[in-house]
Amino acid sequence: MSRFGLSLQTDRRQWLLGVSACAVSTTLAAPAARAAQGKEITLRFSHVVAEETPKGLAANRLKVLLQQRTQGRIRLQVFPNAQLYGDHDEMQALQLGAVDMLAPSLSKFGRIGFPEFELFDLPFLFDSVADVRRITQGDLGQRLLQRLSLQGITGLGYFDNGFKQMSANRPLLAPEDFVGLRMRIQASRVIAAQMRALGAQPVTLSFSETRRALASGLVDGTENPVSNFWTQGMDRVQSDLSLTDHGYLGYAVVANQRFWNSLNDPDRDLIAQALREALDYANQIADTQNSAALAALREAGTTRIHALTPAQRARLRRAVEPVHQALVNRIGLPWMQAMRDAL
Ligand code: LMR
Repeated sequence: MSRFGLSLQTDRRQWLLGVSACAVSTTLAAPAARAAQGKEITLRFSHVVAEETPKGLAANRLKVLLQQRTQGRIRLQVFPNAQLYGDHDEMQALQLGAVDMLAPSLSKFGRIGFPEFELFDLPFLFDSVADVRRITQGDLGQRLLQRLSLQGITGLGYFDNGFKQMSANRPLLAPEDFVGLRMRIQASRVIAAQMRALGAQPVTLSFSETRRALASGLVDGTENPVSNFWTQGMDRVQSDLSLTDHGYLGYAVVANQRFWNSLNDPDRDLIAQALREALDYANQIADTQNSAALAALREAGTTRIHALTPAQRARLRRAVEPVHQALVNRIGLPWMQAMRDAL
């Protein structure tokens, strides 16, 4: 699998990212035999990234687990790379029941009426994914997922990609380096405010349009974890990757509420359990995937990679501090206080 599509030759990138068929060994016990009986169900899971990413691998892991547990009675159809739906229409497709499951980045829920999800976008908020777990595995994380039911969406769980880095055709080591740059962002007002605080102009584009926009010069730079940067081939249209670790990118798995409630209890429990295991797997491999992508980048030598000194990161952090207060003004102090209590 090359980064841009199927090819006969096994692309070495695939090995570098440690892509592995999600071979899952589970012994079929008697309960599993029961799980093989009943109504056939096909779950359609759409996402916007490549398969050899934490999200792509999580989706494929869930597919294998359901196949193993029900001997194919419950089947997951995965549509990666925005084949079916992209940023601009996936949520509506879910709400209309045209697709059953998504895993959008947490940055993409503000646009559909849940600005409190943009807490996760606050720059320099988290020092590690352990900090993120204090929200996603605690009361605040559950409250956020429950709110999605207001829009016919069932929130099922969270998982990581990792920390975002900045890229452009120049090193981005200090606030002044960003001045005047058009930076592609996800549809998040916090991320837009972050770029403006750095003197850049935020440009919201779908993920699937980003590489083309960078190649054409429509935008000058962007931010993403390295696994997305690498698998989208952004290293070939960006001369410099600056390892800022300035923000977190993670996902919420969501289902169409009518579909989820239509399942009988045993099937709903079986899918929920398989999903928990798939998300645990994703969290285990996410860091490895990003490290493997960074190693692949270093080996490819296609883009200059810049580490930042603590002093340089501290200057970026100071420059974007006003973003935090702006979010308090938008979503109110209770959400921010709950987040601070969780951390
Ligand atoms: C982006 O739009 O940059 C990311 O949310 C893509 C993804 O799903 O990781």
